[in-house]
Amino acid sequence: MNRFPGKTVLVTGAGSGIGRAVALAFAAEGASVVVAGRTAAPLDETVALIEAAGGTAAAVTVDVTDSDRLRNLVRESVDRFGSLDVAVNNAGILRGAVPVAEVSEEDWDAVLRTNVTGVWLAMKHEIAHMRENGGGTIVNVSSNLGAHQRIPNAAAYLTSKAAVSALTRAAALDHIHQGVRIVAVSPGAVDAPMSLRPGETAADRAERMKTENPLGRVAQAAEVAEAVLYLASPAAGSVVGADLVIDSGSSA
Ligand SMILES: NC(=O)c1ccc[n+]([C@@H]2O[C@H](COP(=O)([O-])OP(=O)(O)OC[C@H]3O[C@@H](n4cnc5c(N)ncnc54)[C@H](OP(=O)(O)O)[C@@H]3O)[C@@H](O)[C@H]2O)c1
Repeated sequence: MNRFPGKTVLVTGAGSGIGRAVALAFAAEGASVVVAGRTAAPLDETVALIEAAGGTAAAVTVDVTDSDRLRNLVRESVDRFGSLDVAVNNAGILRGAVPVAEVSEEDWDAVLRTNVTGVWLAMKHEIAHMRENGGGTIVNVSSNLGAHQRIPNAAAYLTSKAAVSALTRAAALDHIHQGVRIVAVSPGAVDAPMSLRPGETAADRAERMKTENPLGRVAQAAEVAEAVLYLASPAAGSVVGADLVIDSGSSA
């Protein structure tokens, strides 16, 4: 398929994991992709992978907690490729594995600032551009943990991702009449480092999934990317504010 020819797609957190898979998938379907994150080297690797496959991409270093840099990121994307049609707000962190009373203020602030404020600030600047320039689509990467499922010792992360799911619905309602369609995906455990427990290998995780997870395996990042591409495509034109859970049945 070639669903995004001539479109510009911005992906935050695109130097690894789900973000990289999303960037590769959009590029493979004709989009020019701006890959953003804090660290240049992994972003350059994503660009190299896209270019090696015949696609088009550019890397921009940005911290999603910095509003001015996000404003510039939107401007740089448009300057470079001529438009901003789709944004995937994927950057996120997971910190600490302790009960609520033991969560440090530093970890709490970092997780909320990155996962919630970062998504809000990114949307703020993306929407400001899109509503003045023919509309667009935003896909936020939330999690099944939070709105859909809870586990012990992950309070800051659960709180942040429940907020991303709620923020997605709020933003969708506020801006759909301006032509900006906003949705979310909520992955469960994915084949990326974030789903590994401390000290766990990928093989250990595969073993754990056989009993912990109804499907018996983690989702592939490429499977999450497929869902993101569908949600960003015209085929999902009437999907507004939805939060698609992709968690191998964990919250079923
Ligand atoms: N893996 C899972 O099982 C899973 C499940 C459900 C939801 N998710 C969500 O999916 C998203 C991607 O996770 P992942 O598993 O692919 O993790 P990952 O490999 O750690 O990717 C996260 C990316 O976000 C970037 N990032 C972190 N803080 C940032 C900041 N302040 N500004 C800009 N970029 C920042 C990181 O790059 P830099 O450090 O270089 O900035 C990294 O490339 C996250 O929102 C996560 O919560 C993951």
